[in-house]
Amino acid sequence: MEKIVSILGFAGSLRKDSYNRSLLRAALELVPKDGKLEVFDLDGIPPFNQDLENQPSEKVKEFKAKIRAADAILIATPEYNYSIPGVLKNAIDCASRPYGDNAFEHKPVAIMGASIGMTGSARAQYHLRQCFVFLTCFALNQPEVMVPFAQEKIDRDGMVTDQKTREKIRELLESLVAWTKRLKQE
Ligand code: FNR
Repeated sequence: MEKIVSILGFAGSLRKDSYNRSLLRAALELVPKDGKLEVFDLDGIPPFNQDLENQPSEKVKEFKAKIRAADAILIATPEYNYSIPGVLKNAIDCASRPYGDNAFEHKPVAIMGASIGMTGSARAQYHLRQCFVFLTCFALNQPEVMVPFAQEKIDRDGMVTDQKTREKIRELLESLVAWTKRLKQE
């Protein structure tokens, strides 16, 4: 029987009408047959405090458990001030600690992102890749899914209506599944 690759997805925006949450919603529809995607909401992850890193909140425990249970990770990041939003960085920091208990260790990771500007979150995505060097993740290089002018590609109901964007998301998911299988030598 064909192995199903489980993917945990999360967006670096808490905004109700977030374009990046919309990308993940589209990904739920576009995941290939040999993959399955679960979306996790970062809302409720408290600000990281190293004094308390040995007593993580229930939400952080749940987040880490879901990362560990997944074969691969999919992140949709906005760009805030040319970098990743604090909400996303904070969640990554929480899941990487305490030292020696990094939930992201050796995980395949794919990145996508949308912004209302012309660069489609490119700068944020490269900052995010840098975090994954230290976290020992295997970030997928291609395709790069950068969605500029997201307001023209996602409708008021949060549906990704632009066919090229949908195709890119499909390609990203197929590549992530293949990359994960390759790393697991399946
Ligand atoms: C932004 N935005 C933005 N866009 C961009 O292309 N480059 C940037 O550096 C920034 N910086 C930035 C900072 C802050 C604090 C905010 C709130 C916004 C605009 C951003 O692309 C837009 O708000 C997106 O809609 C955010 O993503 P979500 O929430 O729709 O997923």
